[in-house]
Amino acid sequence: MVNSLIVVPLISSLVTAAVISGIWVGAYYIGVKPNQKSDSSNSDPTNQGSASTASYPVSASTASHPVLTTPCIQRSPCEYRLVESIPWGIFTNGEKVMNSTSSAWLDLVNGAESSIEIASFYWSLLAEDTGDNFTSNDTSTFEGRDFYNALINAGKKGISIKIAQNTAVGGYPETANLEKNGWAQVRSLNFTNFEGSGILHTKTMVVDRKHFYVGSANYDWRSLTQVKELGAAVFNCPCLADDVGKILDVYWQMGVPNAQIPDKWPDSVATVYGSQNPLSVRLNQENDVVYFSASPPDFRAGARTGDIDAILNVINTATQFVHIEVMDYAPTTLYMQRNYYWPLIDDALRNAAFQRQIHVRLLMGRWVHTYTEFYSYLYSLQNLNVSLPCLPRGSKDCKRGTIEVRLFEVPPYKEIPNIPYARVNHAKFMVTDNTAYIGTSNWSGDYFISTGGIGMIIQAGDSSQTSQVVQELNDVFIRDWNSNYSTPITDYDLKGNPINSNNL
Ligand SMILES: *[C@@H]1O[C@H](CO)[C@@H](O)[C@H](O)[C@H]1NC(C)=O
Ligand SMILES: *[C@@H]1O[C@H](CO)[C@@H](O)[C@H](O)[C@H]1NC(C)=O
Ligand SMILES: *[C@@H]1O[C@H](CO)[C@@H](O)[C@H](O)[C@H]1NC(C)=O
Ligand SMILES: *[C@@H]1O[C@H](CO)[C@@H](O)[C@H](O)[C@H]1NC(C)=O
Ligand SMILES: *[C@@H]1O[C@H](CO)[C@@H](O)[C@H](O)[C@H]1NC(C)=O
Ligand SMILES: *[C@@H]1O[C@H](CO)[C@@H](O)[C@H](O)[C@H]1NC(C)=O
Ligand SMILES: *[C@@H]1O[C@H](CO)[C@@H](O)[C@H](O)[C@H]1NC(C)=O
Repeated sequence: MVNSLIVVPLISSLVTAAVISGIWVGAYYIGVKPNQKSDSSNSDPTNQGSASTASYPVSASTASHPVLTTPCIQRSPCEYRLVESIPWGIFTNGEKVMNSTSSAWLDLVNGAESSIEIASFYWSLLAEDTGDNFTSNDTSTFEGRDFYNALINAGKKGISIKIAQNTAVGGYPETANLEKNGWAQVRSLNFTNFEGSGILHTKTMVVDRKHFYVGSANYDWRSLTQVKELGAAVFNCPCLADDVGKILDVYWQMGVPNAQIPDKWPDSVATVYGSQNPLSVRLNQENDVVYFSASPPDFRAGARTGDIDAILNVINTATQFVHIEVMDYAPTTLYMQRNYYWPLIDDALRNAAFQRQIHVRLLMGRWVHTYTEFYSYLYSLQNLNVSLPCLPRGSKDCKRGTIEVRLFEVPPYKEIPNIPYARVNHAKFMVTDNTAYIGTSNWSGDYFISTGGIGMIIQAGDSSQTSQVVQELNDVFIRDWNSNYSTPITDYDLKGNPINSNNL
C-alpha cells in the first residue's frame, strides 16, 4: 500500500490539501453560516443549550486538533459500487436495482490478500443463529452462509481477520467459532463503559486497506436477502480505505479489556479529512470529494467530522431538495435514562423548507416494531408543509418549499411468513441535489451521542458538475418513493393504525 501513497512534508501537504479541495470548500459556504461555538452532538443531556438553538453548527471540532498527518494522493481511479439488498419478492417488475450487498462482500473477502477488518453490531449469518428458535433451509438463507464460509476460507489461508463487535452476554457463536479456530481475532466493545449507554452499530469492512464496504447491512443472513439495505463498496482505493481503517483502529483500541477513551487519540488514527477538507478521489469516471464522519464524538480522531455535523452540513448546503431514506426517525433520544428532545435534524429540515424553499422528502421504514410515537413526529414535520411561505412575499415568481413524509413497508415473504426482525427498510441514506450521504445510523439522538456509527459523504469535485454517484443514489430514492411499497403518512392515524380510506 505504501507504494500508492505519496508522503509529502507537512507544509506542502497543507497547501496541496487547500488547493485540491478549493472548489469544494468555496461552494460549501454558499447559504451556510459556519458557527464556531459548538459541538452540536453534546452528549451531556443536561447541557442542551447549543442543541436547541436555531443555528446549525458546522463542525468546529477540528480547531483544537492540529493537522498532523499527511494527505493521501490517490493516483488511480477507485472502483465505486452502490450496493443494496432487496428483500426477496419485491421490485420484481423490472425496476432498476443496484449490485447486491452479498456479491460485493464476497468480492471483498475472496479478493483479500493480507487483511480483513470488520466493525459489526451482532452476528447471525447462519439461519440457526437467528434466535427466537428460528430454523430454515430456505434458499434465502444461503447467501449469509456462503459469506460466513468465505470468511472461514480466508482465515484458513492465513489472512489476518480482525473483528470488532458490540458486546453481548455470551458473545456470538459465529465470531466465537472463528476465534476458537484461530481464523480471526475478536474484540467486543461495551459502550456503557465509555458513554453510559449506546452500542457499536457500525457495519463496515476494510480489506487490505485498499477496498471497503460502508452501509446499513449487518452481518446477518437477513441483511443479504430479507431486509432492505444500502451501502457503498469501493475497490482499489487505498486513500479512502485507510481513512475508514483509522475508524476501525479506534474501535480496535477500545476493544481491549478496561479500555478508556484517551484524552487525545494518537496521530496514527487521526484523519486529516473532514467536511472542511474532504479527500479528492476519482470514483469510476468522475472526480469527487469524499470524507467519512463518525459518532459518537469521543470516537473521532483528528479532523474527523461528527456524524450529526455531516448530516446537518448536507441538509444546510442543499439548494433544491433533500431526500432522506431512514429506518427510524425521532427528534428525541430513545435510550437514555432520561430521554430528551433532540431537534437538530428536525429543525434543519423545517428551516431548509421554510427559509430556503427546499423540497424535503422523508421516507421512513414501517414494520411491526415501529414505535407508535414516530407517527406524531412525522405528522408534525409534514404539517408544516401547509404553511410554508412563498418567498419573496407578494412576488408572482415567489418560491415555496415542501415537506412530505411517506412510509416504506416490505410485504411478507411467502415461503417463510414469520422471519423474526426482517422484511423492513433498514437503509439509512440521504441525497440532495449536490451530495450523497450513506450512513449506518437511525436518525434519533442516541445514534449521534453515544453509539458507534459512520457516514460516507460524496460530492462532485467541481460543484458546478452533476455527480453520477449522487444521481444514482437519487434514482434509488425516487424508485422507492414512487413504489407501491411507499404510502403517505396520512394513510395512518397518529398512532400508526392504517386508515381505511373508504371509511373517510
Ligand atoms: C455492478 O457492478 C459491475 C462491476 O463493477 C458494474 O459493471 C455494473 O455496472 C454494476 N451494476 C449496477 C446496476 O450498478
Ligand atoms: C424456544 O423454544 C424453547 C423450548 O421449546 C421454549 O422454551 C422457548 O420459549 C422458545 N422461545 C421462543 C422465543 O419462542
Ligand atoms: C433442513 O434440512 C435438514 C436435512 O435435510 C433437515 O434435517 C432439517 O429438518 C431441515 N430443517 C428445516 C427447518 O427445514
Ligand atoms: C457492559 O458494561 C456495563 C457497565 O459496566 C455492565 O453492567 C454490563 O453488564 C456490560 N455488558 C456486557 C454484555 O458485558
Ligand atoms: C405540500 O404543499 C404543496 C404546496 O406547496 C402541495 O402541492 C403538496 O401536495 C403538499 N404535500 C403534502 C404531502 O401535503
Ligand atoms: C435502528 O436500527 C437497528 C438496526 O440497525 C434496529 O435494530 C433498531 O431497532 C432501529 N431502531 C431504533 C428505534 O433504534
Ligand atoms: C406492487 O405492484 C405489483 C404489480 O405491479 C404487485 O405485484 C405487488 O403486489 C404490489 N405491491 C404492493 C405492496 O402493493
